[in-house]
Amino acid sequence: MRPTASGICRAASHIRAGGVVAFPTETVYGLGADATNPRACAKIFEIKKRPSFDPLIVHIARASSLRDVIDGQVDKRVRKLIDRFWPGPLTIVFPKSAVIADIVTAGLSTVAVRMPANSAALRLISESSTFIAAPSANIFGRLSPTTASHVMKQLRGRVRYVIDGGRTRVGIESTIVAFHDDRLYVLRHGGIPIEAIRKVVGKVYNYDRNDPKTSVVRHPGQLKSHYSPSTPLVLVANAPAHFRQGKRVGLLSFRGLYSEHTARNYARIEVLSRSGDMAEAASNLFSCLHRLDSAKLDFIVAEQIPRAGLGAAIMERLEKACHA
Ligand code: TXA
Ligand code: MG
Repeated sequence: MRPTASGICRAASHIRAGGVVAFPTETVYGLGADATNPRACAKIFEIKKRPSFDPLIVHIARASSLRDVIDGQVDKRVRKLIDRFWPGPLTIVFPKSAVIADIVTAGLSTVAVRMPANSAALRLISESSTFIAAPSANIFGRLSPTTASHVMKQLRGRVRYVIDGGRTRVGIESTIVAFHDDRLYVLRHGGIPIEAIRKVVGKVYNYDRNDPKTSVVRHPGQLKSHYSPSTPLVLVANAPAHFRQGKRVGLLSFRGLYSEHTARNYARIEVLSRSGDMAEAASNLFSCLHRLDSAKLDFIVAEQIPRAGLGAAIMERLEKACHA
């Protein structure tokens, strides 16, 4: 349904009544329920087939709601991040307040919070008069949805309301950060590049599950395989070298800089951004992968892209997509 006043109103009463609603954000579509209602949030895990150890992000409509969902004071540096990036694709991990259901945080004492930069999302949260816990609106581990029809493709019949806000602007999930022992860690690369965060708070550390210094930061959702198409995907430096005779192969190209000869070898080609613009590439990533995944291919070859700016977030997703 369209995000009209009456549509949002119906969806909000469904949330208040303990239901689940799929809605657009600026990153990807979310599958939301009342974050203070454990039974409602349990439905999200059921619908997505999500393991219960993987916590959900809580979405708020105004920064002042933060004091209700977290425990304690907001650190000065965190305040700077909020002032600079909210509403927007930055999720921050805080000590959790008791109003947030334990199932939301998978039993952790922390909660991940963000304020989305999407008017339909903000209106839905405000009208629901609560906070909305929402993971991406896909089956666990599969490609994230950046249009309402992506949501329908995976969740048809499992969710009553899908608010159609068109294509999401950013196209990849939020960046997740957490403070620990006075250091800021990036737990997931996403819509706000690490370079932009550095400009606001100085040094930023990369989370590494194998490093004993950083693995003290609890980050249960960090799985090797994620964001996967059903078609096998390989990530390569040089696309032409990976073509296989007699197979239907798809190519996910960064800038479309391949020869005509190479192009003839592929059954389907998708280009992320001809001009090499990382924001455009990020916003196209999941739609390109959805299209390749529907093209009945034997496998997909994805070109590596530079890890600068949003490139780091794109590469993080492609690396997980080939671990299926
Ligand atoms: O852009 C986004 O963040 C989208 C939209 C819908 O807001 N949401 C999203 O949610 O990507 P999801 O569930 O697909 O990813 C949330 C991840 C979890 O897998 C987990 O790694 C991390 O957030 N997370 C949630 N709570 C956490 C916590 N308390 N501590 C550390 N990581 C947490
Ligand atoms: Mg997800």
